[in-house]
Amino acid sequence: MDGKKIFRIGFIGMGTVGQGVWKHLWRDRDIMQRRFGAEYELAKACVRDINKKRDIEITRQQMTGDPYSVVNDPSIDIVCELMGGTDKALELTLAALKQGKVVVSANKAVICKHGAQIFETAQKYGGKYFFEASVAGGIPIIKVLREGLVANRFSLIYGILNGTCNYILTRMERENAPYEAIVEDARRLGYVEADESLDLDGWDAAHKISILAYLAHGVWANPEKDMLVSGIRGVKLEDMHWASENDARIKLVAAARRTGNSLFVSVYPALLPMADVVANVNDVYNAVALSGDVVGRTVHIGRGAGQDATASAVIADIADAIKSLAVSAPCSLSVAKDSNLHLASLEEVSGEFYLRMEVKDEAGVLAQVASLLAGENISIELLQQKKHGVEGRVWLLLTTHECTEASINRACKKLEDSEIIFGKPFVLRIFKGL
Ligand SMILES: NC(=O)c1ccc[n+]([C@@H]2O[C@H](COP(=O)([O-])OP(=O)(O)OC[C@H]3O[C@@H](n4cnc5c(N)ncnc54)[C@H](OP(=O)(O)O)[C@@H]3O)[C@@H](O)[C@H]2O)c1
Repeated sequence: MDGKKIFRIGFIGMGTVGQGVWKHLWRDRDIMQRRFGAEYELAKACVRDINKKRDIEITRQQMTGDPYSVVNDPSIDIVCELMGGTDKALELTLAALKQGKVVVSANKAVICKHGAQIFETAQKYGGKYFFEASVAGGIPIIKVLREGLVANRFSLIYGILNGTCNYILTRMERENAPYEAIVEDARRLGYVEADESLDLDGWDAAHKISILAYLAHGVWANPEKDMLVSGIRGVKLEDMHWASENDARIKLVAAARRTGNSLFVSVYPALLPMADVVANVNDVYNAVALSGDVVGRTVHIGRGAGQDATASAVIADIADAIKSLAVSAPCSLSVAKDSNLHLASLEEVSGEFYLRMEVKDEAGVLAQVASLLAGENISIELLQQKKHGVEGRVWLLLTTHECTEASINRACKKLEDSEIIFGKPFVLRIFKGL
């Protein structure tokens, strides 16, 4: 490969993911370079604390505390943004793209919040942006959507996009253990993000499904304004038992469902029938199921996070980055937007629901619940009363026939305000997948 260009790679962030990428690119450099058809050099890595011990072969001269010494170094062709966060990451990404560099990122939060600006800047300045590792870790789902399934329109994309929640739900079910005990264990094992809400309240999965929905439909759904987002905090063993008695499993489901010209993007805990492949994806694994009008149904399963799975996706992007630089290919991001498509309101979306509520153990309560639901045009399909540990209370578990998201929200508010229930009703969607 003498005389040929050597592609220089700079890193911003050398934590879990950064060190995984560095480790594999260094250790397997001979085979990687043959596969990439080009030589590369691990040029520089920026971190917050250059004195922290790293588990990789890196010299002091290769480390810096100044991200601009990576971004503004004219000899660096590829900048890997593996620092996380949004504001600083955006600033550095834009600065690199404006110099026509290639940026490789695993940062779903910055893409979800600022994707439109990032892609526009890449296009305008001839920079390129690759982000395979931002969704579903080791599953190459972005390549699948943009390349492998480019012929398709997608009526439904759904799956498990947060490994931490899947781990917690799997262990609750397997060990018949309450949520609080398993979350505590997950924290100890380092599975829960420092900002727990990202995992447990569904925001991390929301960032990821928002990116997939954009790639499939060309529309950005803002998790805070345009999506229904709820996490797994309220799930109890009573729900797990109900699920297994009814041949179903509880999963945190992220979904982008297109009905006519309306697109509903959501994340919520749901009951999936055991016959659904996604229901059988357990532990820290992720799954993405797709229904395309040309290909039909496909399901993709793999490790959704962790050092090596994520490094695998980042390295795939680096390979693409080198190929695109070697042949001066234009930015390959071309997302087709359907101008008729709009984001669905809760009045437009309907489904079947499971409700669990803690009610007074006295005559007339069931009739009052049924009448309150009927007031919102919601009819009950199944109803079960279960023993409660506290005197004078019972659990009421029920499923509904089809009704709208808006009506279930109104009914839950009325129930919460009524005298008959303690606290709030807990809701699971009954998910109809592929
Ligand atoms: N971990 C996963 O399994 C996973 C999976 C998929 C995607 N991701 C995404 O990958 C990205 C990195 O995640 P991670 O788990 O590797 O994070 P991490 O372990 O916390 O590493 C972050 C790295 O960035 C450096 N850094 C942070 N702020 C900086 C700043 N202002 N200036 C310079 N350096 C800075 C840190 O320096 P110090 O080391 O000195 O603190 C550290 O090396 C995130 O966007 C994350 O969402 C992670």
